[in-house]
Amino acid sequence: MADEKNILDIETVDLDLKTDELVIIDQTLLPNKTEIIRLSKAEDIWEAINLLKVRGAPAIGVAAAISMYVLAVRINVDENASDEYEVFYKEFARLRDYIDSSRPTAVNLHWALNRMDKLVKSMEGEPVTKILDAMKQEALDIKAEDIWVCKQIGENGLSLVKPHDGILTHCNAGKLAVCKYGTATAPIYLGHERGYEFKVFADETRPLLQGARLTAYELQSAGVDVTLICDNMSGLVMRNGWVNAVFVGCDRVAANGDVANKIGTSMVAALAKRYNVPFYVCAPTSTIDMDTACGNDIKIEQRPSTEVTEMWYNEPMAPKGVKVYNPAFDITDNELITAIVTEYGIARAPYDVSLKQIMDKKTK
Ligand code: MRU
Repeated sequence: MADEKNILDIETVDLDLKTDELVIIDQTLLPNKTEIIRLSKAEDIWEAINLLKVRGAPAIGVAAAISMYVLAVRINVDENASDEYEVFYKEFARLRDYIDSSRPTAVNLHWALNRMDKLVKSMEGEPVTKILDAMKQEALDIKAEDIWVCKQIGENGLSLVKPHDGILTHCNAGKLAVCKYGTATAPIYLGHERGYEFKVFADETRPLLQGARLTAYELQSAGVDVTLICDNMSGLVMRNGWVNAVFVGCDRVAANGDVANKIGTSMVAALAKRYNVPFYVCAPTSTIDMDTACGNDIKIEQRPSTEVTEMWYNEPMAPKGVKVYNPAFDITDNELITAIVTEYGIARAPYDVSLKQIMDKKTK
């Protein structure tokens, strides 16, 4: 339990270096309860990602990288056997595929697992203890890079707004979705530190309420002026002239600039276009998937109907047995996006050209 601490001072995702456990905040309990959980079994890690105890594309990526180390340390190998590496890699690959199946849309999960896989393959034939040391370092590097990336996104995003602006955001692309700063919230946090006095509107984000439970909570804890609205209120708020810019995060950016993000994002983008509000997507390059041509090729996660019918209510709020459609993400077409803000600069249409230029700057 860590009830007394400010939520911003608690690591979203961490590796306990003494016990080799994955340490996360159980985000399903926020904001009412701050419970830190420690995981070292594959099934528990899979469930934590699937149930959104740890969530948000970059945080899932960091958790996956740390998890592979945590699980690999526990693989039984005989260090004197000539097939030590083969036995180790076979089990590593099985665990990698299992963790990869926990959620389908955020590409960071796959990206981080791939990075760990590349490392292990590059050390083929080396003693497993040496591979484990390298895996630990790689997982810690991925976490450290996430902090740098978010800070850069914050600086780039901040160049698009001015003091006292109204900013609307959807879901939680905040500190709780990454290791520090957030992506969509990074310009807000940096601006806040520099006295910009933004007025932020946070969509509550049905059905899992990440905007209400997480974004409103972390921004309020930071002392940012934040107003919580229901998802169906953003049209009025924009029509009132209260929003100068929309910043959202994303789970996967296709090569043509179509963006998968939390369900409801495309609705906000369409409204922003209607009211001439710039709509910015904040995307670490680990979320850009040049192998996916367009939004139609992105797999949208479908989640249990009970999240819509009863999860947050004392009693069910829908007739028993009613058909429910519960996609966790939607696709925002690239023509609705004013710019995609990355750690290596700001991409604008035509995105097939600008995203490629951004990706060419990436070294890892
Ligand atoms: O289902 P979630 O809570 O994992 O969805 C999170 C989002 O949609 C975020 O906007 C996205 O992952 C970016 S987080 C920096």
